[in-house]
Order: sequence, then structure tokens, then C-alpha cells
Amino acid sequence: MIERLFKKKDISAILSESTENISGLKRNLSSANLITLGIGAIVGTGIFVITGQAAAMYAGPALTISFLISAIGCVLAGLCYAEYAAMIPVSGGVYSYSYTTMGEMLAWFVGWILVLEYLFACSSVAVGWSGYMLSLLDGWGIAFPKQISGATFDHLVDGSWVWTGKIINFPAVFIVGVVSSFLLGGIKQSALVNNIIVVIKVSVILLFIGFGLSYIDTSNWTPYIPENTGEYGHFGWTGILRGAAVVFYAYLGFDALSTAAGEAKNPQRDMPKGILISLLICALLYIAVTLVLTGMVNYTELNVDAPIALAIDRAGSGLAWLSPFIKLGAIAGLSSVILVMMLGQSRIYYSISKDGLLPKVFSKVHSKHGVPQNATIFASVITAIIAGLFPLHVLSELVSIGTLMAFTIVCISIVILRRTQPDLNRPFKTPFVPFIPLLGAAICIIQMLSLPWSTWQRLIGWSILGFIIYFTYGIKHSKLNNKQ
Ligand code: ALA
Repeated sequence: MIERLFKKKDISAILSESTENISGLKRNLSSANLITLGIGAIVGTGIFVITGQAAAMYAGPALTISFLISAIGCVLAGLCYAEYAAMIPVSGGVYSYSYTTMGEMLAWFVGWILVLEYLFACSSVAVGWSGYMLSLLDGWGIAFPKQISGATFDHLVDGSWVWTGKIINFPAVFIVGVVSSFLLGGIKQSALVNNIIVVIKVSVILLFIGFGLSYIDTSNWTPYIPENTGEYGHFGWTGILRGAAVVFYAYLGFDALSTAAGEAKNPQRDMPKGILISLLICALLYIAVTLVLTGMVNYTELNVDAPIALAIDRAGSGLAWLSPFIKLGAIAGLSSVILVMMLGQSRIYYSISKDGLLPKVFSKVHSKHGVPQNATIFASVITAIIAGLFPLHVLSELVSIGTLMAFTIVCISIVILRRTQPDLNRPFKTPFVPFIPLLGAAICIIQMLSLPWSTWQRLIGWSILGFIIYFTYGIKHSKLNNKQ
């Protein structure tokens, strides 16, 4: 029994499967597509919403340093992802890697955690999209029915659940439906839509940086590191650290890219490039936006839902024309985050099902479009239900803990695999192993420990549910174990 639980997949078998491409998925993604997919997944709520709040509450203008620190943590994990994605370029990302290093049960657990990350990331961003859309419509004088414009339930600070009086968050459900229909059309079509969106959102950000520069009042940068209030995490250096943990969310998404490795034309060469270049571009954009934002408006006033739009409004009539573009850019930007996270989610179901740990229906690939159709439909229905019913704060809490856990596992398993299988062909090598992966893992663990206990409780509940599914279904249907 124990042997079954820890049975590992043979890397060479996975690789020959992927080179023969018997999976039916199409290899359509070029290196440029991978970079834009990365940016598409990364730039979203983090920069358009969280930046202002984090500057106002934790770090002030020094949030630029927080972005830098957070980027370093992500690059350490990104280097490990890059080694894996180039070595085992198959759908399923970390789940597939874990199957070769830690055995079936833990791989299932990792897959289950990834479902948590992508499912809740997708639904939380859909709820964010709904907020921006409603505010844009409002700005145009279009009143959207209140009954269908918000979460059905809310979770109060005293821990109780209440009915908000609303039926459903319709715009959130709507955007999930639209994105899914693009995904069902094939990866090539999805990549094209993503490319267009990325051009729009990066242009909007560059316009903000370019035009905002001349409205900077440098007195807003003094003090650059506001004095600590006496409480941990509120300004000063501890504020910068807390700010780094908060803006970590803004970098999430590069990992979702690794789940599309099975659809990359030349994954060995292009996956590391896609992951690292998209991370680097986003880090530069984020730091520049924060610099301009905190220069245009005093950080004390930035705790609002749309800080970038606020800065434009403050600049006066000279920049008024930019305001609707910023909102449209944010709306487009959030759509592509949903797209790539949904892609990741469906590829996880697909990969797990191919191994027999979830029902076969999830690994059926559409003969013409080459996409896992049922997995995509399932992912969108579940995402739409969750996005329609629950508020943002409940959903986003779960995203970080799931991601940090996945990052930690990737970093640690890189070290394990270097020892257990030193001779594998590694087209990309993480430098300074074990130092870099262990440092990456340590940074992630520290951030996980700083999350509230209620988030841990939900993580534990989710994990128990996962083990119940594995022990009642997966273990009996596992292809790897039944082969023996
Ligand atoms: N990085 C993504 C965002 O900021 C999750 O929306």
C-alpha cells in the first residue's frame, strides 16, 4: 500500500509521451506567445488595485522596494520553474513534476493545491473585473440592476455568513463565460486574444508612466520610507516587508505558464525565456508605476479601489482624456489574467485525469481544436459559480497560500531531483543549487506563516477534501499503479 502511494512516474516515459505528442494537444505556442501569455497572466488586479492600498497602508513611496523584494522571491522560484518546465515540458506543470519526484499521493496533493490556486485566482479576478466594469458603466450613466451586481453571500468579521440580498454577481459570471468560449476555440485563438489584450494593457500602463512623469511632485516622495508607527508592518522597514508580501499577488501567474508547456513549440528553449522575461518586464513596469503613482498623489490618499484612475483625476483636465482608457485597460487586463488562470486550471484537470486520478472524461481532447474540452467547461462552470456567489476578500485569501505552497514544493523538489537523478538532460539549470532553491523555499514559507489562521483552516479543509477524493477514487483508478 505505502509503495503504491509513493510510486513515482518515470521521467523518460513522460518525455517520450510529450515528444510523440500522443496527448492530442497542439504545439502552437511560440516564444513570443509564451512571454505575452506570462504578462497576460501576471499584470492585473495587483497593479491596478493593490499597489495603491499597499502604499497607503504599509510602505508609502518605498513600496518600490517592496516590489523589488517580492520580485527577487519570485525570480528564485521562477528559476526553479524554468528548470522544470524545460526538463519536463508537459501539461500539468508542478503536478507533473511532483509525480516524478515525490510520488503519486503527494503529486495528487500538489495538483489539488494548484486547483485551489487557479480556481480561486480566476474567480477572484472575475469579481474584480465585475467591479471595474460596473464603475465604467456607472461613469457612462448606465445603471446596472443592483440585484445581479454583487456576491450572494458575505463572510463577516465575526466569522458568520450572511445573505447579501443579491441574487448573483452577473458580470463576473459573464466574463468567465466569454473567456471560456475563447479557450474552447483552441490555444492558438486564446493566444491571439491574449496578445491583443496584453498590448492594450501594457500600452495603458506605459501611457500612465509617460504622461504621469510630468505631473510628479517630488515632495510626495519625502519621506521616502515613512517612519514606522510603532506597529509591525506599518511603515518603516517592517512596512516594506509586509508590503512585499502583499504585492506578491501582483506577480502570480508566471507559474500558470508552466502548465502550457505541453503546447509550446520549443519548450526546452522557450519556457525558461517565457517565465523569466515576463517576470522581469512586469517587475520593471510595477516599479515604474509605483514611482509615478506615489509621486503624483501623496501615498496617504491612495487607499482606494482604482488608485491609478485617482492619480489621473488629480492631475486635472490635462490628463482627463486618459481616465476611460485606464479603466478599459484594467478591464482588458483582468480578462487576460482570467484567461491564463483558466487555461492553467483546465490543464491541471486534464493532466490529473490522464493519469487516472480523476474521471477519464476530463482528458478528452477536442479533435479539431485540440483543447481539453470537458476540462475547460468544468473549470468554467465551477469558476462561474464561485465568482457569482462569493465576495473578493474571501476568494483572494486562498490564492496566496495555495501559490506559496506550490512554489515551496517546486523549490524543494528541484534540490531532491538534482540528487536523485543528477544525469537527466537539463536544458536550463537553476544556478547555485541548493542555495537558490532553498532560499526561494524559505522566503515562501516565511510568507505563508504570516498569513492568518483562518486561511490556514481553509487550506486544511481543502486538503482533507482532496485526500478523501484520492482515497475513494484516485488510488483505485491510478494508471501508474494499475499498470503494475
Ligand atoms: N498577478 C495577478 C494579478 O495581479 C493575479 O491580478
